[in-house]
Amino acid sequence: MPASSTPKLPTRLTDLFGIEKPILCGGLMWLATAEYVAGVVNAGAMGFITPRSYPDADAFRDAVRRCREMTGGRPFGVNLYISARPAENEKMKAYVDVVVEEGVRCIETAGYSPEALLPRLKEAGCVVLHKATTVRHAAKAVSAGVDAVALIGAECGGHPGMGDIPAMLLAARALEQLDVPVVVGGGIGSGRQIAAALAMGADGVLLGSRMLVADEIWAHPLYKQHLVGLDETCSTTVLRSLKNTYRCLANETAAEVARLESSGQSDYAVLGPLVGGPIQKVAYETGDWTKGVLSLGPAAAWCDKLEPAGAILDRLEADALACLRATAARLEGLQPA
Ligand SMILES: Cc1cc2nc3c(=O)[nH]c(=O)nc-3n(C[C@H](O)[C@H](O)[C@H](O)COP(=O)(O)O)c2cc1C
Repeated sequence: MPASSTPKLPTRLTDLFGIEKPILCGGLMWLATAEYVAGVVNAGAMGFITPRSYPDADAFRDAVRRCREMTGGRPFGVNLYISARPAENEKMKAYVDVVVEEGVRCIETAGYSPEALLPRLKEAGCVVLHKATTVRHAAKAVSAGVDAVALIGAECGGHPGMGDIPAMLLAARALEQLDVPVVVGGGIGSGRQIAAALAMGADGVLLGSRMLVADEIWAHPLYKQHLVGLDETCSTTVLRSLKNTYRCLANETAAEVARLESSGQSDYAVLGPLVGGPIQKVAYETGDWTKGVLSLGPAAAWCDKLEPAGAILDRLEADALACLRATAARLEGLQPA
């Protein structure tokens, strides 16, 4: 896809998605709405609406239409999270119908294998990027036919998988083994990290936590202000004992879940209400960040102020460029091989 203006940092990813910045903003449960994705897309990056943030497929369809209006013809994306629970995946068919019927062309899949969804998405002309937490799963998705992969490290907000492998290591391994565009995600919140990712040959980065203070994120200002005061020690993990590690804001609910787990509690009927979606939504609505297991990673350390998504993304791009230029100048004397 052609980008609407020439990228300053052109990569296979900017070509693939037709974007100006090699930056993806991943799906955010409850928060990656049409308004947020439009802010990201209008700034030249790619964002993905999370259908599960809407009460039903009709409301999701309205969001897709609103996003199309707000982005004036630029491509935008949808996140399709493939669950371990078949009942959850029942809703997927309706979401894919909306994607295909509304002409959405950019898809981020996550969770379990996207293989079953690919024939329909590819037939509709979609570009599909799969987020994986192991190189093995990324390679499997490539064999199944995805166009690109994002390797998401243990630092990420949300579900980092069980391997505890850092993002840079995963992406470096993937770059050695795969011949599709490779994106690095997890723990990224600064321009110098974007420069490092590009310098090692990655095609771009994927952000989540860093973007939570964007003006277009509808969550209550008290929650967003809390993020502004955090440093890199702000997150913790829960649910490792259920083999479903979850990186989240270190708050009272996370401490309570950890306490229950260490006392041997493994019944999801007990843990689920503390961890599930409805309590998160209330926290975002009221701004009471002490309640709920709220997806977050240490990249929130760079959440330094509330500002439009475009301002955050412009700053990241400018900082990445400055870092790459400084590196090039520093290494000027390097002899060609
Ligand atoms: C608040 C929040 C909600 C998220 N919800 C989803 C989701 O619904 N689907 C998904 O695929 N990833 C979700 N993620 C993961 C992000 O898309 C992204 O992969 C991750 O945040 C990258 O790591 P970072 O937070 O260190 O930047 C979520 C992350 C956060 C912080």
